[in-house]
Amino acid sequence: MELREVIGNRRSIRYLDPQRPVELEKIQRMLEAARLASHFGNNNAVRALVVHRESASEEQLACLPSPVGGFQIQLAPVILLWYVEGNAMDFAGERLRELVHCGALGYGPNKLVELEETLVPLFNRIGEALKGPGMVDMDLGQAVAQATLMAFEQGLGTCCQGSADWSKVEKAFGLPQSCRIVVAQTVGYPLESGDAGGQRPRLPFEELFQLNAYENPFPRSREVVAGLTRDKLIQTPAPLSGRDAEIEAIRRKYDLPGSGMI
Ligand SMILES: Cc1cc2nc3c(=O)[nH]c(=O)nc-3n(C[C@H](O)[C@H](O)[C@H](O)COP(=O)(O)O)c2cc1C
Repeated sequence: MELREVIGNRRSIRYLDPQRPVELEKIQRMLEAARLASHFGNNNAVRALVVHRESASEEQLACLPSPVGGFQIQLAPVILLWYVEGNAMDFAGERLRELVHCGALGYGPNKLVELEETLVPLFNRIGEALKGPGMVDMDLGQAVAQATLMAFEQGLGTCCQGSADWSKVEKAFGLPQSCRIVVAQTVGYPLESGDAGGQRPRLPFEELFQLNAYENPFPRSREVVAGLTRDKLIQTPAPLSGRDAEIEAIRRKYDLPGSGMI
């Protein structure tokens, strides 16, 4: 599958096969893709703790955020707890030196002077503030996005799960104080059909993107849209016919709750 089609196929898959285990190699590929994502200052503050349903303890599974994740957490064979390690920012200077030494950043005879006298002190000054929500959460989003595309390329489905309070989960899995979970991600083989009921709704392109000025929508070329449609990045909007019946059959088979909303 080409990257464009992988992006087009990526949908939040909420119905995962609880009986089909996920190979750890496939999870590793997701993590390898996440590791290579862009990170602010190359700080690598993004981490993930993999919860493998088969081997996690009952107590650990019980603390996962079921009021939000609901049946999704119960079905998922694997749950990735994506978190930020704030202490990574304490090594910002070292990460910058690595970037200069590997030729990614800086040029000319003064590059080491600028690095030590300007860049490293700047990062050291703002390092503490950077540990909080903001830039590092953006890093986490990038990492999760790459891991998600890798999951889809391997035939897996995923869905992010939010929570207003991760403290119990952080404690149950032994994360130190410096670590902050941002999102959990369920992973497994989809019970849903490949199209998962079609492309989920989005606001119109012109409402989302501008060129040069806020009042100036980015011009959307029909030819580009046609090309991306051919390449299956842009797909038929949901709901496709038969979607309700598909979900109802899954609901009955796995005895999922009546509303089944979350
Ligand atoms: C940070 C984040 C948190 C999310 N939390 C939840 C959640 O708690 N429960 C859920 O069912 N979906 C959750 N989602 C999935 C979104 O609802 C979904 O991405 C959105 O409706 C667009 O649909 P799509 O991913 O299928 O394109 C979350 C997505 C993100 C990125």
